[in-house]
Amino acid sequence: MKIRKVVITAAGYGTRFLPVTRSQPKEMLPLLDKPLIHYSVEEAIKSGINQIVLVTSASKRSIEDYFKRSPGLESFLKDKGETELLKSMDEITRMADYCYVLQKEPKGLGDAVLTVKVVVGNEPFALMLPDDIIDGPVPGLKQMLNVYEKYNTSVIAVQKVKPEDTGKYGIIRGEEVSPGVYRILEMVEKPEPSKAPSRLAIVGRYILTPRIFEILKETPPGKNDEIQLTDALHALLQQEKLYAVELKGTRYDAGTPLGWLQANVDLALKSKEIGKEFKKYLKELT
Ligand code: G1P
Repeated sequence: MKIRKVVITAAGYGTRFLPVTRSQPKEMLPLLDKPLIHYSVEEAIKSGINQIVLVTSASKRSIEDYFKRSPGLESFLKDKGETELLKSMDEITRMADYCYVLQKEPKGLGDAVLTVKVVVGNEPFALMLPDDIIDGPVPGLKQMLNVYEKYNTSVIAVQKVKPEDTGKYGIIRGEEVSPGVYRILEMVEKPEPSKAPSRLAIVGRYILTPRIFEILKETPPGKNDEIQLTDALHALLQQEKLYAVELKGTRYDAGTPLGWLQANVDLALKSKEIGKEFKKYLKELT
């Protein structure tokens, strides 16, 4: 069955980025001149999906405002004759269909996913965590859709991490069925290095079958007392085959100050507008 909807979760408190996230959603932090969440929507569109379901919380109105039309700005730009800028602002609203679902309490990623059952229904869907920015020649989600089309079952994105970093991610154990594609045998949320079954860490991109909803309803709180998607996926292994695909490209954890800075520096260096000048500036620094 074709994937028509992408769910993007944006309901957390962004505690790794306090204090800026006290009053500003983490997903609205700028990466060059666009907020992080814009990159997820663009990746979905470049992967051929334009129905976007955003999971937000009460304090995240600025995300809705960002994707809405802005009549005041539009007439201002029109009066100034800024036709190109006006067109690109309009495109943000037009590029996708947006729908918002409210997560009532921050009870974890598993709970956030369960809240979209009401709009996703009984079809497979993609899930993206917007603080994971993937930069590569093929959009991350597109790489996964290619694997989904072959196996028609849930597909999880992974990348190898340093052994000491397993405690930051969901970790999978699997058998490699083709280069970079694994049949998953086990999944654990944030195991300490001595207990990690491999170095293959989950990146925030998933393609999920609707079976996950029934499992999530029964999943008790796990790590950090939150309902963990990884625990539900581990349980799903009893009912269907799951595959993991090693994403090609650089992953930035832009939900932390260091990862966000790295993403900004790398993207700035590649930018057509400011790349040259920024490189010159960095050279002067060293
Ligand atoms: C979540 C998932 C984790 C995954 C990570 C990817 O954790 O629970 O399995 O590895 O996203 O970014 P979080 O970063 O929300 O704590």
